[in-house]
Amino acid sequence: MASAGRGEWSGKAGFILAAAGSAIGLGNIWRFPYTAGENGGGAFVLVYLAFVLLIGVPVVLSELSIGRFSKLNPVGAFKKLAPGTNWKWLGGLGVLTGFGILAFYSVVAGWTLSYLWGAITGQVGGVTTAAESEAAFVSLIGGSFMPLVLTAIFMALTIFVVRGGVSEGIERATKILMPTLLVVLLIMAIRSMTLEGGMAGVSYLFSPDFSKLNVGVILAALGQALFSLSLGMGAMITYGSYFPDRENLPQAGIIVAIFDTGIAFLAGLIIFPALFSVGVEPNAGPGLVFIVLPSIFSQLPAGGLFAIAFYALLSIAALTSTISLLEVVVAYFVDEKQWNRKKAALWIGVACFVLAIPSALSQGAVDIFSTSFGLGISFLDLQSIVWGNYSLSIGALGLCIFVGWKWGIPAALASLESSGHALQGHALWSFLVKYVCPVAVFAILVYIMITQQYF
Ligand code: PFF
Repeated sequence: MASAGRGEWSGKAGFILAAAGSAIGLGNIWRFPYTAGENGGGAFVLVYLAFVLLIGVPVVLSELSIGRFSKLNPVGAFKKLAPGTNWKWLGGLGVLTGFGILAFYSVVAGWTLSYLWGAITGQVGGVTTAAESEAAFVSLIGGSFMPLVLTAIFMALTIFVVRGGVSEGIERATKILMPTLLVVLLIMAIRSMTLEGGMAGVSYLFSPDFSKLNVGVILAALGQALFSLSLGMGAMITYGSYFPDRENLPQAGIIVAIFDTGIAFLAGLIIFPALFSVGVEPNAGPGLVFIVLPSIFSQLPAGGLFAIAFYALLSIAALTSTISLLEVVVAYFVDEKQWNRKKAALWIGVACFVLAIPSALSQGAVDIFSTSFGLGISFLDLQSIVWGNYSLSIGALGLCIFVGWKWGIPAALASLESSGHALQGHALWSFLVKYVCPVAVFAILVYIMITQQYF
């Protein structure tokens, strides 16, 4: 039983859907393709996959073990497992990171809503050339009024679901979404790969050119693996804390990781063939997906309907991720500060919207936000790198050290296996958590500092 009033998933399937809902989102369909495109394609994809297996999966299991054992938010969990120590700050970093990610994620989610509206009114399906598509995108995100309104709408939706609490709000939203999203993406990938010249995109994605690898690419791949799996900030601690005692947790965690990675690859198989077919550069940046996708819809039978289905599903996938971001922060205030859930959801959401304003206005509307006060990248990109790459990596590093060396593998394993279901390959898991993950993440961060290739 979860402690009174915290709530619990209705079962393993409920957890898998909710955790997959957190993991699958704009990270897979928006961030993965443009990051792969900016970092040279195949070599990045290979390193990303290696990180998912060697770091992502071990960290998923570590976070879930902490969540299930403590039944608390990230800060409370570290306080309970290591009382009177500074480990609680690691949880604090996670809560802050949730806030930071939500403050740029909601901006991009707002763009998605606008595309949904465009699909419903027939504008998106009608766009045929990449140049038209790019012009429409630039005029949408470069404004000041619409990006702010769209961000506000998305934040309001997120607040609304999180107010409702764990099982009612979050589970219900995900149950229908995931299978439908999978089918729509599969059909789009098939269409995209059969476009003229599309196969060049498949080979871009899968033939690694190792001369493209440098430490910046490696950090981007690590950040993307963590971001996509919702790791390094305690989202999986929080979601694991609602996991029913009787169910097989390790298996559920691994299924979520497989789902998430599969969807990212599917997104790659949609974007890259289409991109080569219409002649857009792979390194087009955060606009990539929004610029390339309309051209696929115009090539599909009933493309207009597909566009509506796709953007509706993408909006919901983004929503199930923003829910988990807000939930981490809300769970902290509810558990640790005894705030009422409804009040916490509302005020944290509003504060996060305020923090999202510079990102929303960073695509041309306000110069200082477009250059991040002279750093040369947009405020939105800066947030994505700071929170998505650095903060999650530091969080994952701390988490592995905590589980491997402080709390200890036996205790973590006992928590994972407490329902009586064994974790196959637990010796490998232990080795990865204790040695491979900390050393790899630490080495990458130090190397970045030495070479000063921060962005
Ligand atoms: N995993 C989400 C995505 O790929 O869209 C983003 C995210 C959600 C990151 C929750 C971190 C998190 F805790």
